[in-house]
Amino acid sequence: MTLGGLAITDLVAEFGSPLWVVDEHDLRTRTRAYVEAFPGVRVAYASKAWPTVAVMQIVSSEGCLIDVASAGELHTAMVAGIPVADIVFHGNNKSEAELRMAAELGVGRIVVDSFDELDRLERIGSELACVFDVWLRITPGIDAHTHEYVRTGHDDAKFGFTLSLGLADKAFAHALELSNVNVVGAHAHIGSQIFGTDPFVANAEVMVELLARWREAHGVTIGELNLGGGMGIRYTHEDHPVAIARYGKDVLEAVRRACESHDFPMPQLAVEPGRALIAPSTVTVYTVGTVKKLPGIRTYVSVDGGMSDNIRPALYDAEHEVALASRESDAELAAYTVVGKHCESGDLVRERAPLPGDLAVGDLLAVAATGAYTASMASNYNRLPRPGAVLVGDGRARAIVRRETLDDVVARDIALH
Ligand SMILES: Cc1ncc(COP(=O)(O)O)c(C=O)c1O
Repeated sequence: MTLGGLAITDLVAEFGSPLWVVDEHDLRTRTRAYVEAFPGVRVAYASKAWPTVAVMQIVSSEGCLIDVASAGELHTAMVAGIPVADIVFHGNNKSEAELRMAAELGVGRIVVDSFDELDRLERIGSELACVFDVWLRITPGIDAHTHEYVRTGHDDAKFGFTLSLGLADKAFAHALELSNVNVVGAHAHIGSQIFGTDPFVANAEVMVELLARWREAHGVTIGELNLGGGMGIRYTHEDHPVAIARYGKDVLEAVRRACESHDFPMPQLAVEPGRALIAPSTVTVYTVGTVKKLPGIRTYVSVDGGMSDNIRPALYDAEHEVALASRESDAELAAYTVVGKHCESGDLVRERAPLPGDLAVGDLLAVAATGAYTASMASNYNRLPRPGAVLVGDGRARAIVRRETLDDVVARDIALH
């Protein structure tokens, strides 16, 4: 198997295993396609998917704003050289220190998630003599039919001002009374890994209706609308996401239609994909360490990473395609349970992965579409050093994240004597 013109075997020989390999051409092409699918719309990369300096630099150079959701992600964006005006700051519980950092840097937009935060911003703004330009995060009451851990738009969610309970209207009315908070827009993200465009269309309709209602109630026309991210991607052969172009077209048409029907001016739109930009461009390469045959039951194949570098199978029952990457094989396919090396039975890479029946110790396996919510959720469970990451393209490889060492793993421990 090759990526970016380089053999996976050579990459592992140079950079070690496990390894995240990012195909730069794929990442750029995908980002461009997204930007082109939404003409005139600001596309913000939801950096929580993989908030690493090089990835932020690449998507920013392709025209994206950068979404952050913590001081750590904001600091990463600063190190990446992202213009501060291009940063959008999210989070349902931003701390006082995080909001002060945003104020001092002059972050472009703050997405306000709660009444407590509105009041916190008002106080910080008056102390620092600044006015925050904010979007109010609305919980629009849309059930996106995705895994319950990645649904965010339904009423019983920890995020945002719940529309059906009247909290969105209350928040807007309250914000209008504040001197250091300037509501320039509204925001709604309904969830992640969503297939089809109907939930996105419904979100657009609900949000335009809300803006029209606010105008009627207060005589204030809000000019910006962020419709979130969440487009599903192809993790396995069974996943059939819509094309980016179709998604863009349906959402833009829905907004236009809704604006026409409410006689509301077309707002400056924004969207904020994470997974759809970075996940498909990346594979994780592992080395097979043991093969355990249980006749009549199954065969376990253990690799040198697992839930510490990809928690998704354990957390969401997520599936990724797995392929033999280090050699060709004519052997008939067999179903292997590919597992990690951690002390948990739930430490799964892929259940019943169809792989050549002659799979052996030392083979390299490539796991597809691991660029989102893997490295960003990685841990040192069992004190495994986290893998490195390389960017490949045109036959060149560049390290973008250094592999951790054993000393890194104990670096924060303080010995008693
Ligand atoms: C507010 C917000 N915007 C955007 C995203 C990105 O979602 P996705 O990576 O599915 O596009 C998320 C993901 O959790 C989010 O919480």
